Amino acid sequence: MDESQSIETLVAAVSEERLWDRHMEIAKIGATGRGGVNRQALSPEDAEARLRVLDWSAARGFTAAADDIGNLFIRRAGSDPEALPVVSGSHIDSQPTGGNFDGVYGVLAALEVLDAASDADVQTKRPLEAVIWTNEEGSRFQPTTMGSTVFAGSLALETALDTVDSEGISVREALAETQARMGVAEHRAFRAPMAAYLEAHIEQGPVLEATEKTIGIVSGIQGLRWFRIEVTGEEGHAGTTPEANRKDALVAALAMVTALREFMADPDDRVRFTVGRFEVSPNSPNTVPGRVLFTIDFRHPDAEVLARLGDQVEGICRAKAGGCAVTVEETISSPPTEFDPAVRDLLRAAAARQALAHMDMVSGATHDAKYMADLTPSGMIFVPCAGGLSHNEAESATPKDLAEGTRLLAEAMLRLANR
Ligand code: HGY
Ligand code: MN
Ligand code: MN
Repeated sequence: MDESQSIETLVAAVSEERLWDRHMEIAKIGATGRGGVNRQALSPEDAEARLRVLDWSAARGFTAAADDIGNLFIRRAGSDPEALPVVSGSHIDSQPTGGNFDGVYGVLAALEVLDAASDADVQTKRPLEAVIWTNEEGSRFQPTTMGSTVFAGSLALETALDTVDSEGISVREALAETQARMGVAEHRAFRAPMAAYLEAHIEQGPVLEATEKTIGIVSGIQGLRWFRIEVTGEEGHAGTTPEANRKDALVAALAMVTALREFMADPDDRVRFTVGRFEVSPNSPNTVPGRVLFTIDFRHPDAEVLARLGDQVEGICRAKAGGCAVTVEETISSPPTEFDPAVRDLLRAAAARQALAHMDMVSGATHDAKYMADLTPSGMIFVPCAGGLSHNEAESATPKDLAEGTRLLAEAMLRLANR
């Protein structure tokens, strides 16, 4: 079979039904009962979803390996065992009120390509791998894209393992439980070389749907900086503590957030500034708050703006601290990413060959592909999601779009795997 025949055979073997059914299976794990999921990183639900994918993989004779932050690599052998793999995947952990496609699509699309290759008995020179990255969402444990960032060497393993959630449970503890349940013996080293990396994902924005395109060829990902701000005042009695004696952590934190929002105001609406987590303690109606923890998620497509505005965050917080103490920790800082032009060209040519309506676009959301781009030629494929809604239980996509994106992924992986 020559390459074009292999491509046609592989693309035809992609099963829209199996892909959709697997999404619905994973959607049951951590289902909230309101249409979405709560399957946070390294939770029992996360482990159960990983195990489901491992079961599907083992049934096809694919092998699995794991690295020391729990990233899972599922391999379909190629004819040349020494050849570097073509890897594709995403994440299976979700936001607390997440949707059924964010991340899951990228994992199941990659697995679908491996399955379709086996169904069609298509041999590749290079191994094909599907990867599940640990803790992409960064909701339970900050920062976001933790697994891929540690794999790429941009975040120290020990720093990640020492991170604790709001209950005081560490990544180290939660990971040990997850790895014990996975039982994956084969070890994968960090920065293990790959021939290429591709990630399929829902757009998480409205553009593809609004322009009636099926495919987004992602040119890059905007930059992002995350901060963790802790304000420490003094707890006191709400009825007896005079204003003049108060060190009210809530009042100081609100002043900081107000000042930051004024500073980040952007008439062009390109700055993305979010305070998504805001915890007051002791959180009691009649105790002056002694401590506030809040997070900042700041993003921008321009590296200079990201640096210039982000560098002011600490000073603005300190200026509004009043009598309180404040600590400002930057938990991730990542400049804008450009994906490999040759990979983008390959994706564009394959989309045209498959007569898929497509367009180039920048990703507002971050993805694990951001860190693979530093290691290997990387690219991303977007498919539409209804109303551009994501990080919302109403997130939805169509079986047809998911399958079309997977067919494009299949062709691209095959072409890269035979080089
Ligand atoms: O935050 C993000 O951009 C990703 O969806 N976790
Ligand atoms: Mn995602
Ligand atoms: Mn997400």
